[in-house]
Amino acid sequence: MRLAVIGCGYVGLVTGGCLGYAGHEVVATDVDAGRIAMLQAGKLPIYEPGLEVVVEKATKAGRLRFTGDAAEAILASDAIFICVGTPPLESGAADLSAIDNVARQIAAASRSPKLVIEKSTVPAQTGAQLQRALDVYGRRGEATFRVASNPEFLREGTAVADFFHPDRIVVGVEGADAERQLREIYKPILEGTFSCPIHDGHCPAVAAPVFMVTTIASAELIKHASNSFLGLKISYANVIADLCERLGANVEEVTRAVGLDPRIGPQFLSAGLGFGGFCLPKDIQAFLHLAEGLGVNFRLLREAEIVNQRRVDQFLDKVRRALWVVKDKQVGALGLAFKPNTDDIRFAPGIEVVRRMDAEGAIVCASDPVAIERARLALQGTGVKLMPDPYDVARGAEALLLLTEWREYRDLDWERIHAQMARPLVLDGRNMLSRDKMRAIGFEYHSFGRPDVHSKVSLGSH
Ligand code: UDX
Repeated sequence: MRLAVIGCGYVGLVTGGCLGYAGHEVVATDVDAGRIAMLQAGKLPIYEPGLEVVVEKATKAGRLRFTGDAAEAILASDAIFICVGTPPLESGAADLSAIDNVARQIAAASRSPKLVIEKSTVPAQTGAQLQRALDVYGRRGEATFRVASNPEFLREGTAVADFFHPDRIVVGVEGADAERQLREIYKPILEGTFSCPIHDGHCPAVAAPVFMVTTIASAELIKHASNSFLGLKISYANVIADLCERLGANVEEVTRAVGLDPRIGPQFLSAGLGFGGFCLPKDIQAFLHLAEGLGVNFRLLREAEIVNQRRVDQFLDKVRRALWVVKDKQVGALGLAFKPNTDDIRFAPGIEVVRRMDAEGAIVCASDPVAIERARLALQGTGVKLMPDPYDVARGAEALLLLTEWREYRDLDWERIHAQMARPLVLDGRNMLSRDKMRAIGFEYHSFGRPDVHSKVSLGSH
């Protein structure tokens, strides 16, 4: 099929790249001329494992190209994916102005019927508004528009693998034509007729994805409901970790056993600094805004958000307790990306921790395997020193903070680090290291929900 992708961020690049790779003819566009120039020169503006190969192969095969001219992309397509940003406004509501702009562009440029697919995360009822905008602004043209909602469930760091091996493809449509077109678009994924660029012919044996057809309103809600549930799960695990600290229990043992119940499942129960990134925090805010606006009591989700916001405070309390005085102490920080395998630092707890340590007068040195350049911009105006080598960060430090669970950090030579630090103190915000191993080396080691003292509370006598 001939597809246009509007917006070349994480979602647009993965969607456009993978659909071109899988056999469609894709033209991708973005308002950022610099970004388009970079893509035209064969460079990716983001770090996402596997995406480079996908984009390169699709481009070389003549099935993916980039243009700064949105009208050209629109004209050359039968279906258009809207993948523009919907950042949060001050109120918590999603800013839909980019979607509105795109709707007007599509309406003005179209000369034939178009299927317009919302891929960006949008609040409920956006589909209806989008349809109205297209009909109103396109009224003088010869084009007709059908709107569909096709939320993405891609995780940064594994987005390409997620795209090729999804557990479900949700399409919110009205009418059989839109459904037929979307089935056609996803046919290579549904039938497995692509050569997987990630697993090199050895894809994990996973069940075929469920192609779920819903109303547009349901599809819009599914995205919010999924992401919010993930946030709830993480916050739940974090409160359990707090309880473990008070009771002398080990959160890893508790969540492992809890997660073995298939009704709960083992994922998203890791306690630590909490969730960050551009999706979960923003989607939860937008969902809360929507629910509250509709008069639906969703304090359950609000509480999950509050628990999450407190994680960094709780971590900093641990640092302060361990260091006693923070001012003028040299502190090393490992990990700035919001999670491993991405260079994304948006709403990253690690960035907040180093910023606040710096504001409290600590001398902060920080590192990350891939996010240093982005962090440099975000930390402008602070005293945080960025250095590529984690051993340089540890040298002379009086505390080392682990803020993202990069594999590279797990595999460091911790004996060497112990010898280099001014004081062998490690605060692990991600529970990524073995407490016993760290203590055996001689570190003072703190993490979340894994105390080594037994119950400090009186359980009463009956
Ligand atoms: C998420 C959803 O998983 C994805 O389906 C959606 O399309 C976009 O939002 P992403 O933002 O890439 O994807 O990150 P994800 O892997 O879900 O992690 C979110 C955050 O939760 C990270 O900050 C991570 O460190 C944190 N997390 C995750 C925990 O703190 N504990 C866990 O057990 C799992």
